[in-house]
Amino acid sequence: MNREQISRIAHTDHPIKSPLDDTSVERLLEAGLPRGDERVLDLGCGSGEWLIRAMAARPDLLAEGVDVSEDALRQASRAAADRGVADRLLLHHRDAASFASADRFDLVISVGATHAFGGLLPTLAAARRHLAPGGRVLIGDGFWDRTPSPEAVEMLGEGTDLASTVDRVAADGWTPVHGHVSTRHELDAYEWSCWGSLASWALGHPADPDSAEALATANSRRTEWLQVYRDSWGFVSLVLARTPGKA
Ligand SMILES: C[S@@+](CC[C@H](N)C(=O)[O-])C[C@H]1O[C@@H](n2cnc3c(N)ncnc32)[C@H](O)[C@@H]1O
Repeated sequence: MNREQISRIAHTDHPIKSPLDDTSVERLLEAGLPRGDERVLDLGCGSGEWLIRAMAARPDLLAEGVDVSEDALRQASRAAADRGVADRLLLHHRDAASFASADRFDLVISVGATHAFGGLLPTLAAARRHLAPGGRVLIGDGFWDRTPSPEAVEMLGEGTDLASTVDRVAADGWTPVHGHVSTRHELDAYEWSCWGSLASWALGHPADPDSAEALATANSRRTEWLQVYRDSWGFVSLVLARTPGKA
């Protein structure tokens, strides 16, 4: 099984591929889309769920999404058609870090995809290149909620605590106008959903040649989460505006 197949099955019941519940997603979108007729770009859009939800509730919104996963973009196309927003969604099969567009956007979203840019600040720099004057960025990234074990750092990379993360963003010329720290319930619900869906698929398809591998992956990823990073990893989502006077 490749990573895309695993990801598709793991996210069956949690189409937002980040530890956020539906209410948190809606509040973040409301803070990023105060008018309702904005142009929105999602860098690392996955299956397009942020854009589709934003458009479904705002008939005048136009959206574009960028992702390297053909499989995820196919899902995004299908979901957009099912929810009647396909005519307002443009999808690009590209590397988000080098994506270029002649258009400027009122909201640039990038949630759970900072690895594609080499970290949080490079993601903000990329988002800024696409931003219309007065626009906002909605970014989501992990942080260390408690001192991580060396094993956790090896698995998820170097990082900072919440206060330092927000300080770095502010020092880079951004002002948070809304923020959300994923709750323990959201963090746990996401992991249980992903590895539970994968295990459930494997158990329900015993004759499939991928069944044993899927079950082994679900079990090892659940164990890694519980043993290595559950107690130290957090996730923060921020809606940001440029700070006046910052170049
Ligand atoms: C954790 S998922 C988040 C998806 C979506 N933002 C969400 O919250 O539902 C990360 C996404 O980043 C995409 N990605 C990884 N590297 C990328 C790159 N260089 N350019 C564009 N997308 C990339 C992956 O294919 C995946 O869809």
